[in-house]
Amino acid sequence: MYNKGYSEIDGVKIYIENIESYIAESYLLLTNHNKYNEFSLHKYINQEKRKEYFNSLVQAYLHNYNNIRELLAKVKPYVEVDRILNVNTSRDNVVNTTLKDYVYLQRDWCYCEDGEAQIEKTAQSIQKVLPRDMENALFLGCGVGRLAVEFANIFKKVLATDKSYSMIWHINKLLSDVNFEFYTPQEKNVYSLENVAQKHTASISDSLKTQIKDKVDFFVSDVLDLPLKKNSLDAVFSIYFTDVIALKLWFEKINSIIKNDGYFIHFGPLDYFFSAESEMLTAKEFRAFFEENGYETVVDEIIETSHLNDSNSLVYKVYRNWLFVAKK
Ligand SMILES: C[S@@+](CC[C@H](N)C(=O)[O-])C[C@H]1O[C@@H](n2cnc3c(N)ncnc32)[C@H](O)[C@@H]1O
Repeated sequence: MYNKGYSEIDGVKIYIENIESYIAESYLLLTNHNKYNEFSLHKYINQEKRKEYFNSLVQAYLHNYNNIRELLAKVKPYVEVDRILNVNTSRDNVVNTTLKDYVYLQRDWCYCEDGEAQIEKTAQSIQKVLPRDMENALFLGCGVGRLAVEFANIFKKVLATDKSYSMIWHINKLLSDVNFEFYTPQEKNVYSLENVAQKHTASISDSLKTQIKDKVDFFVSDVLDLPLKKNSLDAVFSIYFTDVIALKLWFEKINSIIKNDGYFIHFGPLDYFFSAESEMLTAKEFRAFFEENGYETVVDEIIETSHLNDSNSLVYKVYRNWLFVAKK
């Protein structure tokens, strides 16, 4: 299925041509993120008022800070100073939120009621409309992987890729360790002090680990340069991914790797995380694009789910997801 070899850093398979620049950029982004943890620690430590509130935040940010230091230490030996100096992202780019990985780890591998409900409804609504005779599938922008794993029972082989080094590192970490602890601290939207910074523990059971190691292949790659042979896949899934990069940039590559009679599956709200309105297609335009390129629409419906919710928060998000299944 693959058309090239990979590099490996701390067990993470990476199919990216310019690995030195890629790893320097990943290192810098994570370092910047940890500056946010550091900044929060300095801000909240030794506060006189609301001691319990600030102490729990300090504990949470310190734990997350140490987690990211562990990841950075594994990557550091592969980072060249000159590459870091040439990384083309703003030095002030401090990602001032909890690491996205943790929000996904919480939904995917902490078995909270709300996360499980989202996963179950998403997987079931897609599975009930797919044929059962397909061999392999690719999940684009798979995050920390639970949705890809949910489909391992209907395919012989599942490939799951993400451009983020840390997303794939975290799923690998869970597959090799007993569990992984982290916090998703929230300064606001909370009912009581206990909800401000609860520790979460992500884990995977031994039997599921065996199934994943057997059937699911996690790797880093860019959707714009997938390391896969033409006509090699029965199904390509874009779950909460279609709105990350404009369709016109990845359609040709995806189209070339899907077998004739294979399927493209989209699930998500078309939230569009880029700024070019010209590429923010409506669901109908998206469907028309596929039909103009030789696909037959099999499913076009709306499925409502909650989205990445944390029961410690008073905020609750619901998505009206568009489910689109097209056959080549
Ligand atoms: C909104 S998240 C969805 C994660 C996952 N599909 C899920 O629902 O749990 C989008 C993911 O796409 C990944 N991503 C962004 N740009 C990418 C690219 N060019 N190639 C592959 N993955 C990418 C991000 O790292 C992130 O994990």
